Amino acid sequence: MWEHLPLFPARASTMAGHVDALYFALVAIAAFFTFLVSALILFFAIRYRKGRNPHATQIHGSTALELLWTGIPLAIVMMIFVWSSVIFFMQTRPPKGAMEVYLVGKQWMWKFQHTEGQREINALHVPAGRDVRMIMTSQDVIHSFYVPAFRIKADVLPGRYTTTWFHATTPGHYHLFCAEYCGTQHSGMIGEIVVMDPTEYDKWAASGVDGSLASAGEKSFQHYGCTMCHRADNAGRGPNLTGAFGHAVLLDDGRTVTADESYIRESILNPGAKIVSGFKNIMPTFEGQLSEEEVIGLVAYIKALGNGTANLPLPVSEPNSGAYPVAPKQEGSAAKSDKTTTTPEKSGAAQPAAKP
Ligand code: CUA
Repeated sequence: MWEHLPLFPARASTMAGHVDALYFALVAIAAFFTFLVSALILFFAIRYRKGRNPHATQIHGSTALELLWTGIPLAIVMMIFVWSSVIFFMQTRPPKGAMEVYLVGKQWMWKFQHTEGQREINALHVPAGRDVRMIMTSQDVIHSFYVPAFRIKADVLPGRYTTTWFHATTPGHYHLFCAEYCGTQHSGMIGEIVVMDPTEYDKWAASGVDGSLASAGEKSFQHYGCTMCHRADNAGRGPNLTGAFGHAVLLDDGRTVTADESYIRESILNPGAKIVSGFKNIMPTFEGQLSEEEVIGLVAYIKALGNGTANLPLPVSEPNSGAYPVAPKQEGSAAKSDKTTTTPEKSGAAQPAAKP
């Protein structure tokens, strides 16, 4: 009924109808009471005008009236609260099995990464008729991912992942805006969402990519030497990551967390924050060494390890070829930092300066 009103953007997602219904209900309630109050003012002004009622009748309190004008607004706002909460939960809980797209916002562009390997700037191709979950972060300031035709808006924050989702219904091109003032060219931080026919999208996603996002992550995983500790045979000094994603992780302080994207990200950039039970706090931080894109690749790879679509690579053969120093496992050669296990017999010859 409202589609052809030029005031309103197209409705191109399953969320649009819900948001519009709530919006129009709020407008209708406000309009009704505005009209009611105005009409009563007019009516009373005429009905109780001075010529007809020279002496005012004073009324002191009416319990029934007070209950009425408290009860009715309470019922209305509670109805609005429940209704909007239902929509809020719908919007914040992505359906299971949604396809995933990673987004990095920066001054002043949107960088998208598809799990199939496609990368885009200021444009996002998605299929119609499928759930799409966005996993978003910013490499500088706060931005906000806003697609009016989908009726979704979600902040994109530095230092963490936020998520939103949509289910586009109609193929077409839709505006993407940044809805958070983020600097001088904030108004130019725009793009478009291209909703495609699903079969065309599959063709598009498979064309001209060399490897998936997870395979890019696997390369980083090897490049940064993660394989030295995170081994598939459980013999590493870090946890085996196979099958870890999406499951509960017991920490050494007794807490349990779910290994989601945010947990993986935190464990890469601030490894000491949550130590897995049974492991030591020995992993170096990768804060400042990885771009957001590399972190996303690693997250996608660890996710693929979780659902069985990837395997942990074998450790590279020569030790300490990674980007950070790795202490060897043998206690003899680790003598310098390991006071308790150093014995004179073992280290005496190599370390003449060792204390008697
Ligand atoms: Cu990004 Cu405003």
